[in-house]
Amino acid sequence: MATSLQTLTSNFAAPTDWRAPLIQEVRRGLARRPLSLAPWLLYDGAGSRLFDRITTLPEYYPTRTERAILTRNVNSILAAVLPRASQPLRIIELGAGSADKTGILLDAALRAKAGVHYRPLDVSAEALHAARRSIERLYPGVRVEPSVVNYVTNPPRLQPFPGNTLVLYLGSSIANFPPEEARAILRNASSQMRPRDAFLLGVDLVKDESTLVAAYDDRAGVTAAFNLNVLHRLNRELGADFDVDGFRHRAEWNAGKSRIEMHLESTRDQQASIPAAAMQLHIVKGETIHTESSYKFTDGSVKSLLQDAGLALSRLWKDEAGRYAVALAYPETIRS
Ligand code: AVI
Repeated sequence: MATSLQTLTSNFAAPTDWRAPLIQEVRRGLARRPLSLAPWLLYDGAGSRLFDRITTLPEYYPTRTERAILTRNVNSILAAVLPRASQPLRIIELGAGSADKTGILLDAALRAKAGVHYRPLDVSAEALHAARRSIERLYPGVRVEPSVVNYVTNPPRLQPFPGNTLVLYLGSSIANFPPEEARAILRNASSQMRPRDAFLLGVDLVKDESTLVAAYDDRAGVTAAFNLNVLHRLNRELGADFDVDGFRHRAEWNAGKSRIEMHLESTRDQQASIPAAAMQLHIVKGETIHTESSYKFTDGSVKSLLQDAGLALSRLWKDEAGRYAVALAYPETIRS
């Protein structure tokens, strides 16, 4: 049975109006053990800038590997969805952000002489504004229609369209949702797709533990700063008094759940007050706040995730080292 997305928004979904949900999330996550905070708290302005830096780190291979896979296989990807010559192609991107990798697909679609409509969806108006400006400058033939929307709390409705639609969900973004929420996001899209529409999903793959841990605990300490910024954010926005130096970043591989977990570990017994949430937190040495999970997939688990969401895997492109994959899938009811 399909699960309502409205019931599944506790974990990652970034709201567009922050303060009330921030307080609510702090009350939820820090009032029970084990302590946790939802991953969307990581992405305030400072956190988003730190995340941009993470994507360029030598240890953080997903971003550049996905870009290389898209560049190498763009013609095969497009061949799967290009409509008949007279019809346009629509590209809808969930969590588009600055849409920098999407240019690879837009460029190739224009070269193939398709009319291209690009609809980036994101919670950040700022990121969408920048994406629109850069795409209109680099690919003037593309019609860009951005929407500021939380695609988890407000699953997008696909308007009727005369050509084929390619739904993009790149950057391993699916990885920060627990399986049930991940399936619901994909199912919302698949249930609205038509014949010859396709879904393109970027996923990070299971690999040796040291490579995985290094990607989330880099030598330069950028990921540590990204994680610790959550406490700075609570201090800034909720008047909390966390002593950030009393915490350390920890990244660990949870093999049973096939995920990297980020935690903030308290290096001593301490307390913090969070006035806006009317809370006083006692935290003992060694106790952690779980701030993010990043699920890693195998060929089999990508296929099952898609299948459980009504999508049939058609192609899986990987880099030579088999670190990352881009999956193309069609709505199952139509293809099987
Ligand atoms: C955004 N997301 C796909 C990143 C990931 O790899 O799970 C977030 C991240 N957290 C630490 N490093 C990167």
